[in-house]
Amino acid sequence: MTVDTSTEPEVRTIETGSDPTRYARGWHCIGLAKSFRNGKPHQVQIFGTDLVVWEDSKGQLNVLDAFCRHMGGNLAMGEVKGDDIACPFHDWRWGGNGKCTGIPYARRVPPIAKTRSWISMERNGLFFVWNDPQGNPPPPEVTIPEIEGYGTDQWSEWSWNTYLVEGSNCREIVDNVVDMAHFFYVHFQMPEFFKNVFEGHIAAQHMRSSGRDDVQTGVQLDMPDAETVSDAFYYGPSFMLDTVYTIAGDSKVEVKLVNCHYPITQNSFLLQYGTVVKRMDGVSDEEASAMATMFTEGVETQFKQDVEIWKHKSRIENPLLTEEDGPVYQLRRWYSQFYVDVEDVTSDMTKRFEFEVDTTRALENWAEEVKANVAQLADSSK
Ligand code: FES
Ligand SMILES: [Fe+2]
Repeated sequence: MTVDTSTEPEVRTIETGSDPTRYARGWHCIGLAKSFRNGKPHQVQIFGTDLVVWEDSKGQLNVLDAFCRHMGGNLAMGEVKGDDIACPFHDWRWGGNGKCTGIPYARRVPPIAKTRSWISMERNGLFFVWNDPQGNPPPPEVTIPEIEGYGTDQWSEWSWNTYLVEGSNCREIVDNVVDMAHFFYVHFQMPEFFKNVFEGHIAAQHMRSSGRDDVQTGVQLDMPDAETVSDAFYYGPSFMLDTVYTIAGDSKVEVKLVNCHYPITQNSFLLQYGTVVKRMDGVSDEEASAMATMFTEGVETQFKQDVEIWKHKSRIENPLLTEEDGPVYQLRRWYSQFYVDVEDVTSDMTKRFEFEVDTTRALENWAEEVKANVAQLADSSK
């Protein structure tokens, strides 16, 4: 018997593409500012290289290339002396501006003794480094917004976590911005409303969701019926600030969630996430920070699920999509602006683009699936 294959579609082939050859232009959060403030130098592996961060006597955090321009000593193994970082090899001193300020054993400092200093910024208690392969400073409009009232008793302290992801390029995490369906399967959420808006250097994800009755996470804050209203914005390639309201009956909890990362190499990145919870009347400091911890643990559970996917998946340049999958290609076009010289950024990458996913069919089917799971759980506990 012969099989007529003329009506069969061709087998789809995955194009894996290749990792980028440069690191994204933009602000990269490297952690809580206070974690660098212990009088010691800190080594940060980032952008395929090593940096040293230290606090000077004025309380300013400085960032230099870690490797000393004299003989390659590692400044992160050195000591903070006065305002400078002193190399452990021959004690050359380097200032935050990259200039060599002194060589205790030498008659003169070579006038060309200068290393690379990185532009940095503290915002909302977080510390950022600016990367630009072209060496330009950040344009004023490309910044990280302040959290209103941060640093006052309106907000809890940061509950902050990091997670090393190896075997994956950081584009995987950014793809999540448009991925409505994975919120059900990977994050145990039911997205009822899902919309993306990209414009300039900002990519937004607006989501309204509820929890699943068959699987609960700390993100529901112990309120199984809670609705989650989440408005998340990527400010540049690596830093997402999300305003999340968890609403159940009369109670409404506001959380700021940061989801950010920095590339270590093209095949590994450090995922970081943290939360601050808004103080509500009648809620003590302890209760607010317990809430922040519960929420962050929920987020952690969710991210661990993402990480398992990223670790084992293929890079894919030509995803095969349905209407419900959201604008993956448009998002990647937006993301590509950070990987080309500023002169080569086209309006395609930055012009306003909006897309709302129709979640009707998804919700119908998921409600059935959850109902069946709940029934099965009830049966098995009999
Ligand atoms: S290598 Fe740093 S002082 Fe010599
Ligand atoms: Fe995810």
